[in-house]
Amino acid sequence: MTRINPDIKTACDIILSGGVAALPTETVYGLAADATNYDAVSRIFLLKNRPNFNPLISHISDMNMAQNYGYFSQTALKLAHKFWPGALTFIVPKHKIPLNNTMPIAGNVTAGLDTIGLRMPLHPIMQNVIRMVNKPLAAPSANISGGISPTDCHHVKISFGQQAPFIVDGGACAVGLESTILHIFDNQVTLLRQGGISADEIMDFIGHIHIADNIKNNKDIIAPGQLLKHYAPKTPVLINQTDCTIDDGFIGFGTDYIPHHAKAFYQLSDTKNLTQAAQNLFSALYDMDMRQVKNICIAPIPDMGVGRAMNERIMRAATHK
Ligand code: TXA
Ligand code: MG
Repeated sequence: MTRINPDIKTACDIILSGGVAALPTETVYGLAADATNYDAVSRIFLLKNRPNFNPLISHISDMNMAQNYGYFSQTALKLAHKFWPGALTFIVPKHKIPLNNTMPIAGNVTAGLDTIGLRMPLHPIMQNVIRMVNKPLAAPSANISGGISPTDCHHVKISFGQQAPFIVDGGACAVGLESTILHIFDNQVTLLRQGGISADEIMDFIGHIHIADNIKNNKDIIAPGQLLKHYAPKTPVLINQTDCTIDDGFIGFGTDYIPHHAKAFYQLSDTKNLTQAAQNLFSALYDMDMRQVKNICIAPIPDMGVGRAMNERIMRAATHK
């Protein structure tokens, strides 16, 4: 018999009794509860101080569970087979009654919408918990609303302080950015949020997709959660910087711009590897925010591949107050 990590067992017990636990996923840590339990889901909103009009993603372990709750068109199925498990969320029409007549998703998960956000995570801990609980898990990023998403269990502790839930430590998240969100209605695909899987990768596979206006214009998104002041550290953030003062912290990308004087320095990737830089971005912001620097200065990041999702997060982090 294989031994189960006792923390995973504890997390399952908490979730099955209507509580909330923080779990690692490959994108960011999630604050998870049983998506079919209204009261449990309410606890997520309360803990995060999240407005109740902002729906949550339901995490599922397999296609059967996904199709039990959401309608997958041919295009959605094709994309799911290619990118799941992984950093991709589908917003699809929600079945009024689950196909297998199981308990429905609680109404507060979808904020009363007739669509549902579904993601099949890759991380083995998250996968195991969903399988053991045998229910979909509602899980937003495990941070107070408007803050930086956590990519390490310490970030969850910093974000919630005394209110921190039980956390399963899975080390650093491999992707480091939240999932990419696609809205799929029949065979029309619209990118709602850039994330761990780049739009280029999706288009290479499926051809042209629509890009939501908010992404094109760098404006607020139609996904209700995408309020502009998001990913905001407490310290002011300055973007596209090539140097900084002795009171500032500098987040570097490669060695083109290394400040002469900086209070703190964090290198995202000395080889300019965007995947590595994405992994480190939120850690860098948490780290700098703790060091009491005057400003967090961030070097230019190429606006390509996953760099686009990074720039979107950085732009939001800089929209302070
Ligand atoms: O990588 C991720 O997606 C992480 C991990 C934990 O899975 N989760 C995450 O959740 O980033 P959250 O709540 O921080 O962001 C989910 C976004 C929100 O902007 C929300 O508005 C949007 O998904 N969303 C969820 N369901 C939706 C729906 N039915 N229609 C439109 N937007 C939806
Ligand atoms: Mg979030």
